[in-house]
Amino acid sequence: MNYDERLQHVSVMGAAGKMGSGILLLTAVEMADRSLMPENKGKTFVLNAIDLSDEGLAGLMDYLRVQVQKVAEKKTVWLRQMYADRADLIENYDIINQYINDVMRIVRPTTAMETTYRSNLVFEAVSENKDLKVKLLRQIDANNPGKPWYFTNTSSVPIHIVENEAGLDGRVLGFHFYNPPAVQKLVELIVTPKTLAETKAFALDYAKALGKVVVPSNDFAGFIGNGHFMRDALHGINEALELAKTRPLTEAIYMVNKVSQDFLVRPMGIFQLIDYVGVDVVQFIMKVMNPHLTGEDLHSDVLDQMMALGVKGGQLSSGAQKDGFLKYDKGAPIAVYDMEKKSYVNIADFMTTCDAALGKLPEPYSPWKAAVKIKDKDAHFGPFFGSLKTMDTLGAKLALRYGKRSDAIGRKLVADKVANNEQDVNTVMLTGFFHAYGPINGYFNE
Ligand code: CAA
Repeated sequence: MNYDERLQHVSVMGAAGKMGSGILLLTAVEMADRSLMPENKGKTFVLNAIDLSDEGLAGLMDYLRVQVQKVAEKKTVWLRQMYADRADLIENYDIINQYINDVMRIVRPTTAMETTYRSNLVFEAVSENKDLKVKLLRQIDANNPGKPWYFTNTSSVPIHIVENEAGLDGRVLGFHFYNPPAVQKLVELIVTPKTLAETKAFALDYAKALGKVVVPSNDFAGFIGNGHFMRDALHGINEALELAKTRPLTEAIYMVNKVSQDFLVRPMGIFQLIDYVGVDVVQFIMKVMNPHLTGEDLHSDVLDQMMALGVKGGQLSSGAQKDGFLKYDKGAPIAVYDMEKKSYVNIADFMTTCDAALGKLPEPYSPWKAAVKIKDKDAHFGPFFGSLKTMDTLGAKLALRYGKRSDAIGRKLVADKVANNEQDVNTVMLTGFFHAYGPINGYFNE
């Protein structure tokens, strides 16, 4: 089966979820593009979008239409070539609409997982529950005579465990996207000793077609990205608890969030990122990773308390951010959750005092959106963090400790042989988390 034949019948499980919807979008576009190639004219391409939630699937189709329009607008010249034999498509508007139709007619939203029984390739993006994943893949494999390939988007479960328990014998690999998949350039690729060479070769071709950067990760729970993120998140939570010995936890959360965003020049503060991924997802990933670690406890009572209170963050099917540690208005944090009062406290009530306690940002300051575009990162961040190290403020001290911790986490991932080298750790953070600089950088050394 060649590349196009493999892509002619594909399923995405968990398609209405945050990761699933992005995987579905990228795959639908790639399949539509292949279907427009002269050699594939007249062939049928089918992409099953499978999810338990009817409401979620309806939201998915809305998301898809909006995003495909954006994709089409960026490639009208190529589309004009592909539709050269269509005299009826004159204006760009006609071409874009035709392309949206061509993508949408490939996608079949359904709650019926039996549709996977005819697929050549199955993307698995259901919830982060090993037993569920194994059960579903085992069931599909028992009913699909075509020996399909499985690309699991698990963010924490070792692939060889899924492979062995579901009896997939080389036909599964970890193909781990980052949130949102349409934006983050990274795919972590995880193979097992049994993974078929042709499955891996297809995965590399497919990632290339999607314009993704592939970083291989060794098959350890959490892989590289979550290996860093979970420890980084715990550091942030623990720093907030430390600060909360002398001030309310709500203020401490605001301050650590600000330090990890503004002082460290990241796209989101750590509590916003936990909310973005979902408190439940972060707690789950830590739980999955923990039994595989020695000499380390990836666990936080604070996450457990938030879950017990039902405050989980995550996103609505419209893509809007749900409230978690922070409350949001049009995507921007406006309040912090008080776990004792079980209500939100407005940031405006304490922002001035907390900002004064943190002190000024180092100079020359470029916020993340501008900094991420700077070509010579060392020339900018070297002096920036050099200046931070000379400052005797609370904000600078917290940022310095945070930067050092992030660097140490990165180095440990290499020492533990999760990542093959430091460059891979940096690439994961640059392309999966949209950081402006890699964590292993020497900027924070004394
Ligand atoms: N689908 C498609 N496009 C999206 C999108 C989505 N869900 N979300 C954002 N975008 C697009 C926007 O439309 C916008 O596109 P244009 O430039 O064409 O207008 C672009 O992304 C930038 O968005 P915004 O201007 O709204 O906001 P921003 O500049 O702050 O970027 C962000 C938003 C890309 C999410 C950025 O804040 C970011 O990268 N944050 C860090 C996210 C992160 O760390 N992700 C990894 C989480 S861990 C993980 O995923 C692994 C796991 O297993 C848990």
